[in-house]
Amino acid sequence: MKKNIVFAIIASISLTGCGPSLRTAQEKRIDERVDSVMELMTLDEKIGQMVLYSSDWDVTGPSLKKGYMDEIRKGNCGNIFNAYTAAYTRKLQKIAVEESRLHIPLLFGYDVIHGQKTIFPISLGESASWDLAAIEKSARVSATEAAASGINWTFAPMCDISVDPRWGRVSEGAGEDPYLGSKIAAARVHGFQGDNLADSLTILACVKHFAAYGAPLAGRDYNTVDMSRRVFLDTYLPPYKAAIDAGAMSVMSSFNELDGVPATGSRYLLTDVLRDQLGFKGFVVTDYTSINEMVNHGVADNDADAGLLAIKAGVDMDMQGDVYAKYLKKSLNEGLIPMKDIYDAVHRILYVKFMLGLFDDPYRYCSESREKRELYAPEHLAAALDMAQKSMVLLKNDNKTLPLVKGEKIAVIGELANSKRDLLGSWIAAGDGNYLQSILEELKNYNGDANTIYAEGCKKMGDDRSGFAAAIAAARRADKIVLVIGESWDWSGEAASRSNIDMPGVQTELLEKLKALNKPIVVVLMNGRPLTLTKENELADAMLEAWYPGTMGGKAVTNVLFGQYNPSGKLTMTFPRNVGQIPIFYYEKNSGRPIYLKDPKYKSRYIDCPNDPLFPFGYGLSYTTFAYSDISLSTTDLTEKGELKASVNVTNTGNAAGEEVVQCYVRDLVGSITRPVKELKGFEKIALKVGESKVVTFTITPDMLAFHRLDMTYGTEPGDYKLFIGGNSRDLKETKFKLD
Ligand code: BGC
Repeated sequence: MKKNIVFAIIASISLTGCGPSLRTAQEKRIDERVDSVMELMTLDEKIGQMVLYSSDWDVTGPSLKKGYMDEIRKGNCGNIFNAYTAAYTRKLQKIAVEESRLHIPLLFGYDVIHGQKTIFPISLGESASWDLAAIEKSARVSATEAAASGINWTFAPMCDISVDPRWGRVSEGAGEDPYLGSKIAAARVHGFQGDNLADSLTILACVKHFAAYGAPLAGRDYNTVDMSRRVFLDTYLPPYKAAIDAGAMSVMSSFNELDGVPATGSRYLLTDVLRDQLGFKGFVVTDYTSINEMVNHGVADNDADAGLLAIKAGVDMDMQGDVYAKYLKKSLNEGLIPMKDIYDAVHRILYVKFMLGLFDDPYRYCSESREKRELYAPEHLAAALDMAQKSMVLLKNDNKTLPLVKGEKIAVIGELANSKRDLLGSWIAAGDGNYLQSILEELKNYNGDANTIYAEGCKKMGDDRSGFAAAIAAARRADKIVLVIGESWDWSGEAASRSNIDMPGVQTELLEKLKALNKPIVVVLMNGRPLTLTKENELADAMLEAWYPGTMGGKAVTNVLFGQYNPSGKLTMTFPRNVGQIPIFYYEKNSGRPIYLKDPKYKSRYIDCPNDPLFPFGYGLSYTTFAYSDISLSTTDLTEKGELKASVNVTNTGNAAGEEVVQCYVRDLVGSITRPVKELKGFEKIALKVGESKVVTFTITPDMLAFHRLDMTYGTEPGDYKLFIGGNSRDLKETKFKLD
């Protein structure tokens, strides 16, 4: 193994150190090492570091560059994605480190979104746990497995707020709320990167998709984004900011435009906001060919011009576009860009390679024995089970239909009950749909073969009703029906927008037929976005949102259905009644004619549907019940430098131990601009035994009430506020305070 090759070169030359100013002593030390490498580099080698090509192991976009190994050898490609396993990454790293002129190690990026081999629930599902420690753990396990498989860089976390469930990529995010989204973004970055990027068990995080990618018009992926600057800064920016504050050292520029400028060519986004306001010190990579796509957007005539827009905006690395590789040198020679632009970009990239310890040991992620030990390690599977259970949301449970009782005869129906691949959802890295137990298998394991009758009934898609009769016959023989329905795994994720978010195929029709049998029906849902479930909610006696729960999902569903785990998840996206209510989110504004006005006609409402959603943000039931006391405040006057403590006493009033996510919201009643009717400002997940009570206290400080005011300055405004505490964004205790 040729370790320390570059380090040796570096040590032998003088340290000229001319890195950016305002650096800490430690940063300066790395700057010097970077500079010492850069002094040795030709212009072509520098541009090579700004290039990222996909290997042919996985395809996550429309194009593939042939001959990437040769490009690595020639020093024309400093970074690879979609390559994994210790053996394969070692092979490629060896080319870079032993066959290229300067031996500069490669970065290996991959979409490790919710697991590498051990797959956790999709990110939207994880967010429904409201359990930051479990979410951080999930990212940590993913990093541990990825790092053992040769990967040192994940394209996660996705920090895109979205209020539009038509957009398929809501499955990859943390839902609609900027406060919760920020906490989760930070937890994920900590999970991936740990405290020290040089620790070979951690990997580099990439904050994506910068910025506002989650708000495409009409929910159509890649579509135009247009929003006020205030909404961008107050609602969409906070989770990206939180991830950067948590130490993420790479950011991905998004596909979309914002205010007429594609993000990849937006100096406002990539320099003014990202570097100048947020203080980001890492490097910016584009999304897949997003430089080239600026030609389609219509802001550049050709790829070369698009490349100019990108470098001037602040893009350091070109993912798969081949634009920097082909045109950057020419642009420089023609005097269209200064050398400093290239210098800064390469400096940032090499800086991160040093932080990762790649110059000290380029093969630190390529150990096959470590890989063998880490993939599917028992503690990783245990964490995935824990997370899956915590992610599930009980949407309905009439007449205590759930939990099921071991030994009762159940009819399990639906293609999804028997599907393995669907359990994993989209973006599964090296996940394996064969290495897991389906929901049906786990139900049989627990409840016994004889008590668990299966019939497919119908497929998840299509209009074939030929299995209905067998499903009805199976259901006749059972005490209760467990119907597992939802979307196919590839109906959410990238390029999977829907114009209608009803249950696909004839699954709901089957539910109607089963309802006629007059037996308790439990609907288990597998989907990557909020669906419109009005009809299913009427027909089902109990309904459990299981998302795509991952490798351990079958067991997690079984444990929840049989009460081995008492569900505690709460929705992080509003579930609309129908598609016409979209976009829908709890932090809406009041309008001048709010729905509560007495006038029956002239108010902001639909004439064919209520305004409120089917299930609000923060909603989720338990097998037990919780009672909330009134709120007590430490003071009703919050001073500029003071704090206010708001407490409630929460009691478990049911018959099972359980967990509750206690949520605190605030409303600023009168402002220089209109303010949302509620904004989440705190939450705490508590566990309560039967009959037990706990006092939960939230601390509110003035900075938590800041926003971009009429004049676009950021700060608070004095006046009256409401404060709410409860178990979801709709059912809340309420009180008032004043901000001086
Ligand atoms: C997606 C990114 C992803 C990248 C690399 C793109 O199409 O938008 O989220 O990280 O591909 O796979």
